[in-house]
Amino acid sequence: MDFKQALAHYQERVNATIERYLPDPQQAPEALHSAMHYSATGGGKRVRPLLCYATAEALGQSAEQVDGAAAALELIHAYSLVHDDLPAMDDDDLRRGQATCHIAFDEATAILAGDALQTLAFDILASDQALTDDPARRLRAVKVLASASGVDGMVGGQAIDIAAEGQQLTLDQLKRMHALKTGALIRASVQISAALAGEAENGDTYQRLSRYAECIGLAFQIRDDILDVISDTQTLGKTQGADEAHNKPTYTSLLGLEGAKQHAIDTHAEAIACLEPFGERAQLLKNIADYIVERAH
Ligand code: IPE
Ligand code: IPE
Ligand code: MG
Ligand code: MG
Ligand code: MG
Repeated sequence: MDFKQALAHYQERVNATIERYLPDPQQAPEALHSAMHYSATGGGKRVRPLLCYATAEALGQSAEQVDGAAAALELIHAYSLVHDDLPAMDDDDLRRGQATCHIAFDEATAILAGDALQTLAFDILASDQALTDDPARRLRAVKVLASASGVDGMVGGQAIDIAAEGQQLTLDQLKRMHALKTGALIRASVQISAALAGEAENGDTYQRLSRYAECIGLAFQIRDDILDVISDTQTLGKTQGADEAHNKPTYTSLLGLEGAKQHAIDTHAEAIACLEPFGERAQLLKNIADYIVERAH
């Protein structure tokens, strides 16, 4: 499989798993269920699930084993986007080429849909039979996702992002904000497969995979900042120029476009170096690193 085929293949896998777990939109409360569907199935690159599957490949695990983890990661991501777009946060009306959840439904429904997508993710990790027979591994997977989603991860990063509007951050502060709001869930996408495979947290494999993921997580958000400047609304499926309009501190606002691009290149190189001992088995992880810095949306 080349990268394009692998991407399509795993997108299909995770979409089928998400469909399997989502509540029936025809059943009451219909608005909540429909909003969950709308936000979890309406496109998206599925980068976090892809990382989860690619790590399973690198560790000799089957895709079946991590389907539930891949779906849980994507549901957390979907919830984070629904809340990120709310009027109280980034106040965006376009996401993945469609009206954002609070525009398509209403604010209360969007808040609740985000809440319910989040709890569904943990429900899956707690109950999906294929994940593992080992309660200790399951517990580690829950911990990885919870830590990456909360105050020490995505939510903490979002709080810093909102507080930083109109402020000038130092490069270190900006890096920390990105590491939390975007990096933590990307790192968890790799760590969750490693935890389910039984890799020890202090082992070389787990540590290298984690560092790889930290690097591409940073590169991913740098690319997001760059695309907000150089792309267009049609290609992005979200409003271009939104960061500048909200006075967000970003890599491009701090380092300029060329400085941000160079930073993404350097971070990408470090990510690739982390994979060296894995050889061929890490081919998909390598391809994902390339994709992340080259992507057009
Ligand atoms: C957008 O994430 C928000 C960030 C964390 C930068 P993605 O670029 O992964 O969004 P989708 O899922 O492909 O729409
Ligand atoms: C959002 O970052 C990160 C999370 C949702 C956690 P952005 O606010 O930059 O994402 P976009 O640009 O709206 O997708
Ligand atoms: Mg935001
Ligand atoms: Mg946003
Ligand atoms: Mg952005």
